[in-house]
Amino acid sequence: MTTVPAVAAATPPSAGGARVLTVSSNKGGVGKTTVASNLAIYFRALREELPVLVVGLDDQHTIDRMFALREPRPGDGNLKHGFSERSFDRVAQLGQYGVHFVPSPPDLIGLKARAEDIGTLRRIVDRTVWDGVILFDTKSDLEALTQNALVAADRVLVPVSDWASLEEATKIFGFLERVRPGAHKARVLLTLADLRTRIDGPASDLRSRLETEVKARGWPLHGTMLSRSPRVEALNSATERPLSILHHARGTPIHRQLKDLAEEVLGDLGLGAQTPYAPPPAPARRVVVSRGREPERVADWKELFMRSLRRIQR
Ligand SMILES: Nc1ncnc2c1ncn2[C@@H]1O[C@H](COP(=O)(O)OP(=O)(O)OP(=O)(O)O)[C@@H](O)[C@H]1O
Ligand SMILES: [Mg+2]
Repeated sequence: MTTVPAVAAATPPSAGGARVLTVSSNKGGVGKTTVASNLAIYFRALREELPVLVVGLDDQHTIDRMFALREPRPGDGNLKHGFSERSFDRVAQLGQYGVHFVPSPPDLIGLKARAEDIGTLRRIVDRTVWDGVILFDTKSDLEALTQNALVAADRVLVPVSDWASLEEATKIFGFLERVRPGAHKARVLLTLADLRTRIDGPASDLRSRLETEVKARGWPLHGTMLSRSPRVEALNSATERPLSILHHARGTPIHRQLKDLAEEVLGDLGLGAQTPYAPPPAPARRVVVSRGREPERVADWKELFMRSLRRIQR
């Protein structure tokens, strides 16, 4: 069951070269951050040469804890600098698993004012030289920063785990339709719904009920669904640094489901197996610079990625 349009319908990359995926739901705790951060890791694993940049737009710093390879240093750029510089070129930092991330600012004060024009983030993306994927993980609201991330996206992934999040999804679909009628860039991802949750009525489990309702509303639905997994709960909460599902949940249903979802999303973004990703010949353009330090060149990613993999496998 796949209702997601095929690769042919995928949008072209931004002027800066990036394909943009935003994970968003106005409802809290539906798995946005888990999906965004783990999809980033699967993207890298499936397409080793594909640059992947994750940007967290909330104030929980989960992305930093998951990906940072080192302690913050004076002079490191963060999301606020990205907004003032109108580009993520300088502030993107190489992280665990070869995934880049934009460090979170200490607070979001002042950013909302900068984001009042909801096209701001799209312009930042367009000015960022990034020939890969940029993933935005949004806060559970529909305020200015989230609206920016929705406008900037080529695809919006809307996790739905229960009836309340389904109702909240209506707001995202409504917002996108108002901004650009007919664009249809949002897709629902059923997540956290437990097949064992029985309910009364024609569809006797929660997941089937939600699936039926999503289809009735005419919303595109990802063929892959993510189940509730005690393993994921443990990976996210047992240590300070959330651990990757790819490396630490082998043999579980969610491990396979995330791989299927990653392939589905890559295809939807025009980066599927049918359209092989061709990395640009001169990666030296993409340089991660921190003030007062030697730049880390993109060519170093692979070595650091392999080093982090070896550390994980030990
Ligand atoms: N597939 C899953 N199985 C079990 N638990 C999960 C799964 N996905 C996420 N969780 C847990 O659900 C909780 C919420 O997940 P997460 O932080 O990813 O959601 P969120 O939508 O980003 O939340 P917020 O709205 O606060 O940003 C966390 O405790 C996480 O460990
Ligand atoms: Mg979150």
